[in-house]
Formats: sequence, structure tokens, C-alpha cells
Amino acid sequence: MADIKITDLTVGMEIKNELYILWYNELKKASNNKFYMDFQFRDKTGEINGKKWDATPNELNDYNNAELYFVTGRVTEFQGSLQLNISSLRKAPQQIQKNIADFVQSAPVSSDDMLNKVYEYINLIKDEELKKLCTQVYQENSEQIRFYPAAKALHHSVRGGYLYHITTMLDLAKAISNVYTTVNTDFLYSGILLHDIMKLKEMNSNECGIADYSTEGQLMGHIEMGICYIGEMAKKVGLSQNKELLIKHMILSHHYIPEHGSTKMPMFLEAELLHHIDLIDARTYDFNKAYETLQKGEITERTVFSLDRKVMNPDFEK
Ligand SMILES: [Fe+2]
Ligand SMILES: [Fe+2]
Repeated sequence: MADIKITDLTVGMEIKNELYILWYNELKKASNNKFYMDFQFRDKTGEINGKKWDATPNELNDYNNAELYFVTGRVTEFQGSLQLNISSLRKAPQQIQKNIADFVQSAPVSSDDMLNKVYEYINLIKDEELKKLCTQVYQENSEQIRFYPAAKALHHSVRGGYLYHITTMLDLAKAISNVYTTVNTDFLYSGILLHDIMKLKEMNSNECGIADYSTEGQLMGHIEMGICYIGEMAKKVGLSQNKELLIKHMILSHHYIPEHGSTKMPMFLEAELLHHIDLIDARTYDFNKAYETLQKGEITERTVFSLDRKVMNPDFEK
């Protein structure tokens, strides 16, 4: 294994036991009636299609998507795209599978550190009922929370993106409430912790943090689902009706306008701040993401989808 990244592959290259994530596999039949395996591999840098000719129908059971495989073969070209002609494919042992996060784009902070931060903030909530609500919600979803992205394709669509979004928002809320001292941090922190919680059900995500929208997610969206969920959780933890209503309003209004899914504008300060903190965090992420592909002084050729405009990476120093 020479540790060749997918974006460094070139036509004619022979690779031996390179570690990539198997993203997709399907048994297909060629025009000569012979079976072959169609694969897609990914790493942190990109993706590539692969073919293994002369496959047998039983072979299909040998492959699991979203796991690391040692790939041996030759890089070829098909219709202008690189393709791997696979001679052998071997699943990496469990010890190596544990490092799968190193092969997908992940949040820059570890899930453990982000989860610790979440609990530090929960501990800062003085209101016992809200603290209980947030603790219960995070405990019930503790497994998924560790790897979920915050979106399928927009801001924070990386492994651990959900927690990264929540923890940066919490830090931002702390800074803002140091300036504006009338802010009720119990509600602001709770609103942040709970506003996107049903993204965990709005999308289905594998452990690599790659997600697709669920049927419920497409029909309802995380705002409606979040309101229903908080209703259930409020009963479970004995949250008073008034607090339940305020938290539900924060969730309902956090997208601000009907075009974005909110049927009410925020009607109190903490709900208003929740919206702006959410937006600042998403925009900052999207600008930084756009900069990754730009030289200093360069402007994107096309509109950046998530920002709906062209972006310039200015040439000033940080
Ligand atoms: Fe949201
Ligand atoms: Fe959000």
C-alpha cells in the first residue's frame, strides 16, 4: 500500500492494496451475458468507479458498502472518466475499519470532544426542567449524534457535522450573551441544542455521515418533526406547558420565513438570536468551504449553490 489518494490516480497506474471506502456495489450483466461487479470507491479526496469482470452471482454477498477495502487493480479510462479495473478486493480487518473516519470528510473536532462540550453546556443550564429535557434528548440519540451530518449536501454535510454545527453555535451563543447580558442562556442554549434534533430522523445516515432524506423527512421536515418530538419528550420528562411552548416556538421559527419552512417569525429575543446564530454558523461554514477550491484573489466560476452567489477568496492575510 502506497497510500495513493483517489484524486492522485492517473491512467495506467497500477495500485496494490490501496485502502478506499466501498461506497456502492452492484452485480450487473454485460452484453456477453457474463456477470461483473460495478463499484464506487471513495476517500477524503474524491470518488472513482470500479469494475471487476467475470464475477459470480454469489460474490455479491462478499461486499458491504460503507466499509474499508484493500483495492488492487489498474487505473483505466472510460468515456472520459477514470475507472478502476479491479483484480482483487479484500475487506480490511476490524482494527482498520475503526479508522473509517480518516477516509471520509469529517468535522475538524472529534465526536468525543464535541459531545463533551454539549454536556458542558447542558450543565450550564440552570433551569432543572430544561436541563432534564436536553439531557434526555441527547442521551436517547447518543449513538446517531456522534456521526450524523447536519445536511445532505448543504452546510455541515460531513461526518460529525451535526455536532459540529451545534457546538460552534453554542460557543457563539456564549459570546453573544456576554455582550447582551439580558439574554436568557437557559433558553438560548436549549433552543440551539434542540432546534435541529430531528435532522437525525429527517435523514438516514450511515456511519460515514453520508445521508439521504427519509420519507418522513421529505413529507414533514425537521421543524415539524422536531415540534412533535419535543411534545413527546416534554411529557416524558415532565416539562411545564409554558416552557414546552417556548421551546416549540424556537424550533418553529428558526428558519424565519415561510419560504424556508417557518410559519412564524421569532417572537422573543432568544428565538430571534437562535435564527441568526444558526445562519452565521451555516454561512461561515459555506464561505470557508468555497475558499477551499479557490486561490487567493480568485472568484468562483459559477454560483455557489448554498450561498446563491459567486464567492471571492480575498487576498488579504488573516
Ligand atoms: Fe434547521
Ligand atoms: Fe441549524
